[in-house]
Amino acid sequence: MTENIDSYIEEVESFNSGNQDEIEQFRIKFLSKKGIISTLFTQLKDVPADQKKEFGQRLNLLKNKATDKVKILKEQSVSSAQEPVVDDLTSPPEPLPLGTRHPVSIVRNEIIDIFSKIGFTISEGPEIEDDWHVFSGLNFPDEHPARDMQDTFFIEKNPDILLRTHTSSVQIRVMENEKPPIRKIFPGRVFRNEVISARAHCIFHQVEGLYIDKNVSFADLKQTLLFFAKEMFGENTQIRLRPAFFPFTEPSAEMDVSCTICKGKGCNVCKYTGFLEILGCGMVDPNVLESSDISSVEYTGFAFGMGIERVAMLKYHINDLRLFFENDTRFLNQFKGDIT
Ligand code: PHE
Repeated sequence: MTENIDSYIEEVESFNSGNQDEIEQFRIKFLSKKGIISTLFTQLKDVPADQKKEFGQRLNLLKNKATDKVKILKEQSVSSAQEPVVDDLTSPPEPLPLGTRHPVSIVRNEIIDIFSKIGFTISEGPEIEDDWHVFSGLNFPDEHPARDMQDTFFIEKNPDILLRTHTSSVQIRVMENEKPPIRKIFPGRVFRNEVISARAHCIFHQVEGLYIDKNVSFADLKQTLLFFAKEMFGENTQIRLRPAFFPFTEPSAEMDVSCTICKGKGCNVCKYTGFLEILGCGMVDPNVLESSDISSVEYTGFAFGMGIERVAMLKYHINDLRLFFENDTRFLNQFKGDIT
């Protein structure tokens, strides 16, 4: 009698189908009330006593196999029904999401492009510097407050090794190695020991400019910066130079541009002055030229330095500096079109 069951087991094992109707037919044939298995169970009582045990075991095996088979085939047919049918292999794929250039890179590249139109080339210097290149070579007196621990991240004391607080250090490096005429810009990252807020960060980026030649005047500085402001913020942009102090330039000035938001009419961003400060500049101090072995009788020059984040904030109307460092893709994705 068990041979009969064994042939049903074989039939169950070899059955395979993805078709829901066929699976249902199979279930009815084996597992329904009047199906093969329950019929066999009713025959159990007629089986001779010595064969009952084996018959029962084989029958249970058949029942388990049939139940499992129905379960597995049903699951497979459901999950394959959910898979999308790729019927046109020539149709174009979904485009891969592209990244964006960071706004600081976009603005840095734009500043580089503007100055390269008027003959400035790029140099870079190290972020870890010594006292000479960041302070002493730039005519900072020994007791100058900018050397204070509050502003500068010192790595080592005596001799002082520190993170540069401005890109003016590259001025000294370039003057050590090149003779005038020098017409260069120095983009780079700088570090200051500041409390992080909407307006200040301990890391930010600057672009420094240096022009040294015979007969360079303050008028050259002013026209160069006016050209930059118009290229960066639009043809109608106005500039304003206010007297200021830097140890390495004399005379020194800070430059304002007409407010990018109210166009000079007055608003809360420019505090109703119509102007926004964007950079520091001045004529290179003769002491700085001489300490780099450039004759201050023969040559004069100008220098300027601006914060890239500051320019980006004015250009894109961003009111919190921290957004540049958080890399939140909701912020970054807004610069998708700007690929400069
Ligand atoms: N280094 C100055 C700063 O970080 C900016 C500056 C550069 C001023 C060159 C004058 C000349 O604020």
